[in-house]
Amino acid sequence: MLRIGMLTSGGDCQALNAAMRGVVKGVCSTRDDVEIYGFRDGYKGLIYGNFDMLTAKNFSGILTRGGTILGTSRQPFKLMRVPDANGLDKVSAMKHTFNKLSLDCLVILGGNGTHKTANLLREEGLNIITLPKTIDNDLWGTDMTFGFQSAVDIATDTIDRIHTTATSHSRVFIIEIMGHKVGHVTLNAGIAGGADVILIPEIPYNIDAITAVIQKRTVVSKPFTILAVAEGAVSREDAKLKKKEYREKVSKRKYPSVAYELAEQIQQKTDKEVRITVPGHTQRGGSPCACDRVIATRVGAAAAELILKQEYGYMIGIKNGETAKIPLQNVAGKLKTVDPDCSLIQEARRIGISFGDEI
Ligand code: F6P
Repeated sequence: MLRIGMLTSGGDCQALNAAMRGVVKGVCSTRDDVEIYGFRDGYKGLIYGNFDMLTAKNFSGILTRGGTILGTSRQPFKLMRVPDANGLDKVSAMKHTFNKLSLDCLVILGGNGTHKTANLLREEGLNIITLPKTIDNDLWGTDMTFGFQSAVDIATDTIDRIHTTATSHSRVFIIEIMGHKVGHVTLNAGIAGGADVILIPEIPYNIDAITAVIQKRTVVSKPFTILAVAEGAVSREDAKLKKKEYREKVSKRKYPSVAYELAEQIQQKTDKEVRITVPGHTQRGGSPCACDRVIATRVGAAAAELILKQEYGYMIGIKNGETAKIPLQNVAGKLKTVDPDCSLIQEARRIGISFGDEI
């Protein structure tokens, strides 16, 4: 008997179901003595022993379905080794569930926080394989995470729709795009949607450079401007602050996010009408795009191969177009940021896109 535990953890994204389907189909094509334990709502299910017994049938017909059939939750990493208010040591609890069910391995689908915990479980001796999911594409060790391309498509569609209304009203529009501390989604959607200004955390902006772009466009009879702004974008002044000082400043901010601060500054410095659009969690919702379905299926199938060979302790990623196994200890705790000097940014600059840092 092959006993596989599976869980999805952290913020959801597209193609989680497609990836799990890939794992199950891949394993069940070779073995017919498989038991699948689907833990509910991320690590919580493993901690509290809350799971559903699933069969290959449960993973059929879910390729195109958004979200996760297992449910998910965010599990603060820092709490993991410290007993909670009820004296529960979560790491021991997870080990206990794994051993009690005599699992051969645990397949964990998640992003950065999830990988820290997955690596912790590996250090504790559990057989772990992970799959890289997140719209943010910020996981070290893989060129691409599933969920990313779908989010880029949705953010691009938002920019496309804003374009027509911005043009009609000669307005400045700020589209705030998800991505946590990195700018991969914003950079790609900004280019795909023809944004005039792209602001990402990796390139701190100067407000005067932004207003200069808006004014210059008005002079050449382009009275509207589209800004694709990453939720984690920072001004040059804020980038100089220490982490703690910045956090304090943000907590005191009267605005819900950087987009609103920018809107006020632009309105004050130009006589333009400024509007803000936040696609928010729509970027994580709905059916995966074709590219994510392919990536998820590939990493799922490659994970199945490792399970059948009993090789554990790896994340399956995509490297130079091929699936690759990356040791978990190399992935955990590292962030894949946008390289400000990468050719994508140079090409964007070449066609006149501003990154708000030209002055
Ligand atoms: O990590 C994915 C992500 O969507 C980020 O882009 C965003 O900052 C965050 O999750 C939102 O978190 P929550 O799901 O808790 O609202």
